[in-house]
Amino acid sequence: MSNGRRPLIAGNWKMHKTVAEAEAFVAALLPRVATADAVDVAICPSFLSLGAMVDSARGSRVEVYAQNVHYEDAGAFTGEVSPQMLSELDVHGAIVGHSERRELFGETDRALQLKVPKLLDAGLKPLLCVGETEAEREAGDTERKLRHQIGEDLERVPEELLGEVVIAYEPIWAIGTGLVATPEQAQEACAFVRALVGSRSEEAAQRVRILYGGSVKPDNAAELLALPDVDGALVGGASLEAESFAAIVAAAG
Ligand code: PGA
Repeated sequence: MSNGRRPLIAGNWKMHKTVAEAEAFVAALLPRVATADAVDVAICPSFLSLGAMVDSARGSRVEVYAQNVHYEDAGAFTGEVSPQMLSELDVHGAIVGHSERRELFGETDRALQLKVPKLLDAGLKPLLCVGETEAEREAGDTERKLRHQIGEDLERVPEELLGEVVIAYEPIWAIGTGLVATPEQAQEACAFVRALVGSRSEEAAQRVRILYGGSVKPDNAAELLALPDVDGALVGGASLEAESFAAIVAAAG
């Protein structure tokens, strides 16, 4: 890409796919993305499939991300998984701050403030999700929400590491609804997020990859991915089939 940022297409499987289903998916995906040299590809399976997916995708262009992580190395945190545990498996990164985790499981900006630098310390890539609700957009509060989330969630990331974070702008009203943001809305919000990073470091703003997420499908991907401040996509529903996910990867290349 002329701006030097490699597009990233990440598939967020959420609570879908058993290990056997994940294996079948990756076997179908690898040949379909083998020639997509200009694109980074990631799948984000459940914790239980991470090890199997890392092994099956080893040596390919497909990276494997977790869907969540804790910010401590170890301790009395029943049900949680630490960055070290992910590193040990050669996982590449983790989604943090997905709106479902924020809304359904109480993930807070305060926790994200600790998670993002912790992932970077452990050599893992944070994929931080931000985005407004429908009510916030209608009230004209989209920028206020994004400023708040980016400000809080990246507060403890040192300037020289800011460019390593991947940010996904995901308007909550577009997630799983089939209602995709218009190209104008996606570009405006992603450019705003980049400007927020730029207020800390102009160099980081040029490097940071900003993805769009929310009902990305093979038939709308090319238009969204062509936007100047959209460096890739975080894909939910359409990432569950190898064919549609590979079509979105092809649209980025
Ligand atoms: P969707 O999900 O593509 O199904 O809208 C996107 C996401 O939640 O990351």
